[in-house]
Amino acid sequence: MTIGIHDISAATGGLVFALADLADHEGIDVGKYHRGIGQTEMSVLTDDEDIVTMAARAATPILERHGVDGIRTVVFATESGIDQSKAAGVFLHGVLGLPHEVRVVELKEACYSATAAIQFALGIVARRPEERVLVIASDNARYELDSSGEATQGAAAVAMLISASPAVLEIEPVSGLWTDDVMDFWRPNDRSTALVDGRYSVAVYLDSLEGAWKDYQSQGGAAYESFARVCYHQPFTRMAVKAQQRLARIAGDADAAGADTEHLAGTTIYNTRIGNSYTASIYLAFLSLLDNGPDLSGERIGFFSYGSGAVSEFFAGVLVPGYKQQLRPESMERMLEARRPIDYTEYRRRHVEFDRPGDFETVDETLGAVRFAGTTDLKRQYERR
Ligand code: HMG
Repeated sequence: MTIGIHDISAATGGLVFALADLADHEGIDVGKYHRGIGQTEMSVLTDDEDIVTMAARAATPILERHGVDGIRTVVFATESGIDQSKAAGVFLHGVLGLPHEVRVVELKEACYSATAAIQFALGIVARRPEERVLVIASDNARYELDSSGEATQGAAAVAMLISASPAVLEIEPVSGLWTDDVMDFWRPNDRSTALVDGRYSVAVYLDSLEGAWKDYQSQGGAAYESFARVCYHQPFTRMAVKAQQRLARIAGDADAAGADTEHLAGTTIYNTRIGNSYTASIYLAFLSLLDNGPDLSGERIGFFSYGSGAVSEFFAGVLVPGYKQQLRPESMERMLEARRPIDYTEYRRRHVEFDRPGDFETVDETLGAVRFAGTTDLKRQYERR
């Protein structure tokens, strides 16, 4: 039996901020952002968007196409949780009108947890192949204003349906794992923005890649030469270039070790325009490849998932012949183009106003069908247009 990704769809925020404007106000060369970190824009959420509304927007096309039959588990991966107790997935369950006969849970380990969600889903489907699992990765990546991480903010959600006999990607059973208890990036409970030791985090990411790859090989994983592409967690797209160079070096590919290689082609297009989306980032890279790359039916794709703190995993899958017919590339392009540009003043105002105590009503501005209306008696309210 094959198990893997049967369908995949993404959503992002309704606003966009150009890194050229950020560089302009910092008085630095925009080349640092465009070429140095490989980002041109970041998505920003409207007042009435959050991880739940983005998740609803990402999941709706999947549910419209496949219905809810067989979905008995929803796993919501995020590190920008909206409640310390109630899972974001339960709010999503409500706004999507999913059946009561479903288990719903939220998973956290920085940017890594959507990969854990997929692994759990594979186990559920292996045990009962008639079941399907809805996996959601949704995050609003925020750093302090004027901090080193500011240019790497962003927001997106990716929804995936995991099933037997998948139409998009058959996931292979071998994984390489690597965990190390470090403080490269963290967010204490009283903060809505993350703290990061930026350059250290880059070093830990690369060392984790090496650890996970070596474990992948020791577990009988596929040879480096057999990968058509590798999708990396992309906190910024230049990180994927650094990672691919490291992987090529470890794997002994001398030609690729010094260059931007074919292995990344097509995987950075969405992330360059959206920014970091934490748990969603690696699956956004995969969707970018699916939508924008050539037909790679039958080819093996590698995945390196990294979550600060730090947990990482290297795994692989084979693209199912005909997968191109399952995609909706025009819908992502429309969503990116529909984002309203905001200037530096508006960007900073929104950043500061994000943290609001007590009850409030939000401004009606999202283009999505589900909106976060505010809080009443400190209870989050969602409404469907
Ligand atoms: P920085 O220290 O301000 O930047 O921020 P820099 O001085 O290192 O410059 C960046 C690159 O731009 C350098 O290239 C410069 O040479 C180049 P590199 O040496 O790296 O190849 N550069 C230029 N290029 C062209 N034209 C120019 C120019 N000027 C400079 N004019 C840093 C960089 C990554 C530290 C910062 O963005 C940051 O703190 N980001 C947040 C942390 C992060 O993204 N870490 C990545 C690994 S950890 C991770 O992925 C997990 C994470 O997603 C969280 C989670 O798991 O939940 C973050």
